[in-house]
Amino acid sequence: MPLIHWNDTLSVGIKTIDAQHRVLVDTLNELHDAMLAGKAKTLTGPILQKLFHYTRDHFSAEEAMMATANYDCLAEHKVRHRDLAQQVEGYVTRFERGEATLNLHLMHFLRDWLTQHIQKEDRAYTPAMQARGLR
Ligand SMILES: [Fe+2]
Ligand SMILES: [Fe+2]
Repeated sequence: MPLIHWNDTLSVGIKTIDAQHRVLVDTLNELHDAMLAGKAKTLTGPILQKLFHYTRDHFSAEEAMMATANYDCLAEHKVRHRDLAQQVEGYVTRFERGEATLNLHLMHFLRDWLTQHIQKEDRAYTPAMQARGLR
């Protein structure tokens, strides 16, 4: 059973970005499956790394598109991205040091930040991007 089911409430109406968000959702589901299957740290570590790196790449790509669209909340949005990336990075570091384990609490934290960020902050830039012809 996936942690997150993709649905229309997660679409921001911009194809490029939806495709990136789907990769994030798939990666989180992959991590969740690995945790439920009790996969070893050697297998879950790389998925966590992938999640962190893809999140950072996605944030950069999204920020570039918001800049192109002259989106007026770009500065605030960047701050949110920094905070989220730091939280994930902090977790990855603790996991690698053996100070943290994968558990449902962490899965729910990751699911909530991703879905809430998409639904509140990301969806807010859609009109500005569409007005600029970004798809
Ligand atoms: Fe964002
Ligand atoms: Fe996003």
